Amino acid sequence: MTTVGIIGSGMIGGTVARLSVAARHNVVLSNSRGPETLAELVAELGPLAAAGTAEQAAEAGDIVVVSIPVKAFGDVPVKPLAGKPALDTGNYYPRRDGQIAELDTGALAGPIAESWRQEPGTPAYGTPYGPFTDEAGTPASTAKIRADLIGAHR
Ligand SMILES: NC(=O)c1ccc[n+]([C@@H]2O[C@H](COP(=O)([O-])OP(=O)(O)OC[C@H]3O[C@@H](n4cnc5c(N)ncnc54)[C@H](OP(=O)(O)O)[C@@H]3O)[C@@H](O)[C@H]2O)c1
Repeated sequence: MTTVGIIGSGMIGGTVARLSVAARHNVVLSNSRGPETLAELVAELGPLAAAGTAEQAAEAGDIVVVSIPVKAFGDVPVKPLAGKPALDTGNYYPRRDGQIAELDTGALAGPIAESWRQEPGTPAYGTPYGPFTDEAGTPASTAKIRADLIGAHR
């Protein structure tokens, strides 16, 4: 059984929590306002679920899902995530999130620096993965997604 740490328990984080519990994983949920504000969701999810601080969710998770407004990225506890798989659902929409210098300049390190290739407005963003690719609901092939990523330009 895996423990999924969840930082941000809104629309997306809450959905991931429900799906994780349905798959019989433990979840530790967190948000910005504190564990007590998640009591209702934890009760709904049952005994596999608990609430904690973002730090506690990051520490407890074998895998950690970050699903907060992108502008709050500086609040994500970094140390407990070292060496763990961490999935960030965030989309950077400057019109919504404000300009974030570290993302605008590509200054953040490692392969994540290439993540702009699937940002909003690029060919690989969104539609190739969903049931929206054609009327039959066929997802795009790996080759098409790869070509879209390579073909992205700023
Ligand atoms: N990949 C996708 O398909 C997809 C789809 C939709 C959305 N998204 C992205 O996912 C992100 C979250 O979207 P959402 O719709 O789930 O948002 P949401 O419903 O507004 O939920 C945001 C959650 O983040 C928490 N939060 C805010 N600031 C925080 C902080 N500093 N530390 C810890 N938790 C914090 C909020 O807690 P409080 O209420 O306590 O502040 C809330 O639980 C956005 O970037 C959105 O664009 C991705």
